[in-house]
Amino acid sequence: MRALGAVLLLGLSVAATGCGERELLDPDQVVGDAIPNSLTGLPGDPETGRAIFVARESGHCVLCHVVADLDAPFQGNVGPALSDVGARLTPGQIRLRIVDASRLNPDTVMPPYYRVHGLHQVSHGLEGKPVLSSQQIEDLVAFLATMDG
Ligand code: HEC
Repeated sequence: MRALGAVLLLGLSVAATGCGERELLDPDQVVGDAIPNSLTGLPGDPETGRAIFVARESGHCVLCHVVADLDAPFQGNVGPALSDVGARLTPGQIRLRIVDASRLNPDTVMPPYYRVHGLHQVSHGLEGKPVLSSQQIEDLVAFLATMDG
C-alpha cells in the first residue's frame, strides 16, 4: 500500500499546477478535522470537479474511490465509496481530507493533494508545487459536496 501511494504520487505530481514555494496552509486555516474556508476565497465548480475526479492527468481519484453515476470505466475500492460523502462530511471536512489526509491518519495511502513539504520522489522541476492547485481542490470539494447519496 505504501509503495502504491508513492508511485501514485510520482505520477500525479507530473500534473502539478500550483504555484507555491511557500507553506501552503496557515495553521489557523485548519479547525478540528476541517478547513472551513475556501482555499481560493470562492466556491468551486462542481462540473469541473467531476472532470478532475476522473481525469488520469489531474486528480484521478477514481483509482481508489467509487462514485455512483460517474462515467468512468474503472473505479477502485482502496478508499471508501464517496457517493454519499456530501451527506456524511461538511465541505470543510472534505477539503481537509483532499488537502492532506495524513493529518487525520498518518498511515493513509491517500496522497496529499495540497502539500509541498515531506513529499517523496517529486519530479524534477516540480519541487515546491502541490499535486493540485487550490482551484482544483475547490472544484473537487464542490463536486463531492453534491454527492449526498
Ligand atoms: C491511493 C488511493 C487513493 C487516492 C488516489 C485517493 N484517495 Fe481519497 N482516500 C483513500 C483512502 C484509503 C481513504 C480513507 C481514509 C484513510 O485512509 O484514513 C480516503 C478518504 C477520502 C475521503 C474521506 C472519505 C470518508 O468517507 O471519510 C475523501 C473526501 C477523499 N478520500 C477524496 C479523494 C479525492 C477527491 C481524491 C482525488 C483528488 C482521492 N481521494 C484520491 C485513498 C485514496
